[in-house]
Amino acid sequence: MRRKFSKKIMSMGMAAVLSVSLLFGCQSGQKKETKKTYVYQNPEASTEERVKDLMGRMTIKEKIAQMIMAERNVADGGADYKAVKQYGLGAVLSGGGSAPTSGNTAKDWSEEINNYKKAAAESKYGIPILYGVDSVHGNSNVYGTTIFPHQIGLGATGDADLVEKIGRTTASETRAVGSNYAFSPVLGVAYDEHWGRFYECFGENADLVSELGTAYVNGLQGRKDAEDFLSERHVLCSVKHFVGEGQVEQGENQGNVEMDPKEFETLLRNEIIKPYVAAIEAGAQTLMVSYNSINGVNCHENKELITNYLKGELGFQGMVISDYDGVEHCKSDDYKVQLMECVNAGVDMLMEPLDWQKCYYNLIALVNEGKVSEERINDAVSKILTVKFNAGLFEEEINGKAEQEQLEQVGCEEHRTLARNAVSKSLTLLKNDKVKGGKTAIQSLADAKKIAVMGEAADDIGTQCGGWTISWNGDKGETTIGTTILKGFREVAPDKEFEYVDSAEEAAKDVDAVIIVAGESPYSESVGDTGANGLFLDYEGKTMVEETKAKYGKDIPIILMLVTGRPLTVSEEMNRIDALVCAWLPGTECAGIADVLFGDKEFVGRTPVTWPVTAYDISDKFTDESLVMFPYGTGLKKDGSSIK
Ligand code: BGC
Ligand code: BGC
Repeated sequence: MRRKFSKKIMSMGMAAVLSVSLLFGCQSGQKKETKKTYVYQNPEASTEERVKDLMGRMTIKEKIAQMIMAERNVADGGADYKAVKQYGLGAVLSGGGSAPTSGNTAKDWSEEINNYKKAAAESKYGIPILYGVDSVHGNSNVYGTTIFPHQIGLGATGDADLVEKIGRTTASETRAVGSNYAFSPVLGVAYDEHWGRFYECFGENADLVSELGTAYVNGLQGRKDAEDFLSERHVLCSVKHFVGEGQVEQGENQGNVEMDPKEFETLLRNEIIKPYVAAIEAGAQTLMVSYNSINGVNCHENKELITNYLKGELGFQGMVISDYDGVEHCKSDDYKVQLMECVNAGVDMLMEPLDWQKCYYNLIALVNEGKVSEERINDAVSKILTVKFNAGLFEEEINGKAEQEQLEQVGCEEHRTLARNAVSKSLTLLKNDKVKGGKTAIQSLADAKKIAVMGEAADDIGTQCGGWTISWNGDKGETTIGTTILKGFREVAPDKEFEYVDSAEEAAKDVDAVIIVAGESPYSESVGDTGANGLFLDYEGKTMVEETKAKYGKDIPIILMLVTGRPLTVSEEMNRIDALVCAWLPGTECAGIADVLFGDKEFVGRTPVTWPVTAYDISDKFTDESLVMFPYGTGLKKDGSSIK
């Protein structure tokens, strides 16, 4: 995959040569001489030539260091600047919630990441680092960024153009802080909502996931054939998690797919591989291996899967990265054996966040003992370097103009408007009955003068953003900047009175409608795994619905709005409410909800997953229609008709 360098990139390259020379503390004239002598430093040489030249200079230890991604400066074994400079580590990451000690603004991040980049520039060969972050719905660790709906909400929009724009904007807010690598998008095909990562997927349909996943990749990286592919306004993506995570038993995170091997192979080839094939075709540069196992074999040690199938049969030429501590998910309980299995299975870069030295020295030993071949190391490192050359990182000026410009735009109006629009488009209307006077519940909101709003989730930024927001699991409360659902109501419909109350008892008797907002509290990964009992509307939600119905009967429309990452059981509530709206996990810009409820925008969202009657029906929801409350694709309009 050879990258064509435009004049613009070449001239930037010279700027980088100069600034790197200064960092080396040499006179720029001298350094420029040196630069010209090495093929790998010459942007006019082909990527293949540059990789070959650089590899030819590196010792085995230096190559192994390139294979490691460590967590930023953690006390007992993370990567400080010195480790990057002296050992030439290939990559650094900020895991969920891992912000600079100086603070969590975009500026703090930019300063710290640029210090890492400087350290890399000062290393022996000046090989730039990858700096990875979980930009899974915006650059979501960083305070004040634009937070978009989680992927499940984007699935509801079904809108590939929108998703590509979101990818592009996310890339920009990520690049703004110096990071060049996003661990995104998730290409899992989600079958089972017991799973705590259900909301990280676009939905249950492999074709939908392919379409939106590709759009997201195109947004993050730029389009493969475009001039700005992998430019400094884009980031490298990592499609994840390879593979089968949505098919594990009982939706257990990091669990096991238990299926007749032939049956699994058919499912893999006909369905769940589709999004990967499409993303690879679109130029996805890296891929992350999944924590799950398939019939007892963890993906991290599955050579058949990674080397033979992905790299061989599917022809993936990019870099394969392990998940956070993924090595330790291999079955042996001896770290060294786990590492051997993982590297020999075909993993190129090792995300070893907390103790990179353990990884480094063990891998050196494995090569010395002949248990991992030099050929395998060379293969891995050439993949890593190719990705870095492809992305133009060697030519990039540290904290250059593009980055500074983008830093100014983090959380700007334009980005927030895009997010607000995405919120509107993801809003999914599942029930909308006629009420007194003949209009539907949603139509009647236009005439309502006074509306009671209930539920903690109606006025809580953290809740509406869900997991992977500021912290790994996300948190309730005012964790970042944004517009809550209630604030959005007041902004968009200033002529109406919104009475925000804790319970039906406190609500005025003369309100014209009630909107109850309920759903899930933030979570991520295994923390979000739950049994069926955890998938019912919670006690507060149930109580609000019951009491509201008891108080108002059929006099006024009662609308239930869910803020949730997955279908919740609302069968008991169905005859107590007139309308049901699912907002998914909308992110920071919730005025987009009001734009539909009180503005001119029509509902366009459709559920990207089959909604069971009760959570006890999950395992049979695909085979027994009578257990389905809202089939895949359900979405209504304001007049009550179906979107189709
Ligand atoms: C998750 C990945 C994530 C990585 C880095 C892992 O626990 O499974 O999705 O990219 O951590 O934060
Ligand atoms: C990190 C996450 C990571 C998780 C893995 C957390 O401590 O912040 O990034 O995904 O551990 O389990």
